[in-house]
Amino acid sequence: MTRPNERTIIATKAASSRMADRDTPFIFNAWYIAAFDHEISRELLQRTILGKRLVLFRTQAGKAVALDDRCPHRSFPLSSSTLDGDTIICGYHGFRYDTEGNCINVPSAKVCPKGIGNRSYKLIEQGKAIWIWMGNPDEADESQLPDIAWTCDSHWKSSAGYLHLPGSYVRLHENLMDLTHLSFLHGNSFGTPDYATSPFETELNDDRFALIRSVKPTTLPKIWAESTGMKGELQAARIARSEFLAPGLHQVSVTFYDVHLAAENRPEFHIRTAHLPTPETATSTHYFVIHGRDFVTQDQAMTDFMHQQLMAVFEEDVWGLGLQEEVIRQTSSDEFYEFSVPADGPAIAARRYLKQRADDEQEAKNNRQQND
Ligand code: FES
Ligand SMILES: [Fe+2]
Repeated sequence: MTRPNERTIIATKAASSRMADRDTPFIFNAWYIAAFDHEISRELLQRTILGKRLVLFRTQAGKAVALDDRCPHRSFPLSSSTLDGDTIICGYHGFRYDTEGNCINVPSAKVCPKGIGNRSYKLIEQGKAIWIWMGNPDEADESQLPDIAWTCDSHWKSSAGYLHLPGSYVRLHENLMDLTHLSFLHGNSFGTPDYATSPFETELNDDRFALIRSVKPTTLPKIWAESTGMKGELQAARIARSEFLAPGLHQVSVTFYDVHLAAENRPEFHIRTAHLPTPETATSTHYFVIHGRDFVTQDQAMTDFMHQQLMAVFEEDVWGLGLQEEVIRQTSSDEFYEFSVPADGPAIAARRYLKQRADDEQEAKNNRQQND
């Protein structure tokens, strides 16, 4: 096979143009994880989210605050300044800002000039997660908060981790909607050869996309064999539901059971992972993870073992997606084309949805600007 003919390439480019990618504008009107609860403290934390520099801290009463990380006087970073009580004193000329981002003192002026300030961002704390709304403040809709209430439920034993991904969040969503990569990218960790070829179903709705894959009977990889006790050859069923739920949340739920036991009295083991991608820049992502299980919930050593094993797997995704981003970066647009196969269907649906949302948001913004 040589380079495909021009007609084929044009067709693949047309298909790709309907999908989000690194060049697609960010979706601002959505909730993303800004940080885990323990990361925000009385120390000023700098973090870039959706291409914007932010500074995050807690008030003396413990409330989390997020402001633009730029002094509107001469653009000194507030994150390199001083937290004094519940205010930040800019490290350059000492302008003081409150938790709303209002300038409340200018040392060189007897009276603080009115109207100087920075944007503050709405945050919602939910267990380990601190959500942020980067979009239009008037549209910050708490009913749209992605549902990860289970992470606060004692029925589930959970652990949290963070990875910095040198790639677009779009490609992370794609990766998560595509379970065929488990047998290969994770071939040495938790992918088994039967995973890529096992039957799957899809549920493609307007804004939720799911892939359900049943692998049975199968031999469980070490992480699940150790934790469920199902260590035998072809002993287990492994049924995974992988679901795009929001730009900031993809959830994977897996059920395991022993295929040799009757359905009425066999125990089921459930694990769940909230993958929480927050775009940092067009080509980098804060990859937050909360993983939980509903069995052997009291066993801390098992929690540590599973956490370490899982994060090693997600490191493989970070490695692979980083390489992919690098290759895309080095490929000219003339030369760039990607083919899809039927198993890519759910990932394509999610990427089209992200593109449509980004386009709609841009259009609404343009209309607002024209009307102003
Ligand atoms: S740059 Fe912040 S006070 Fe001047
Ligand atoms: Fe993966």
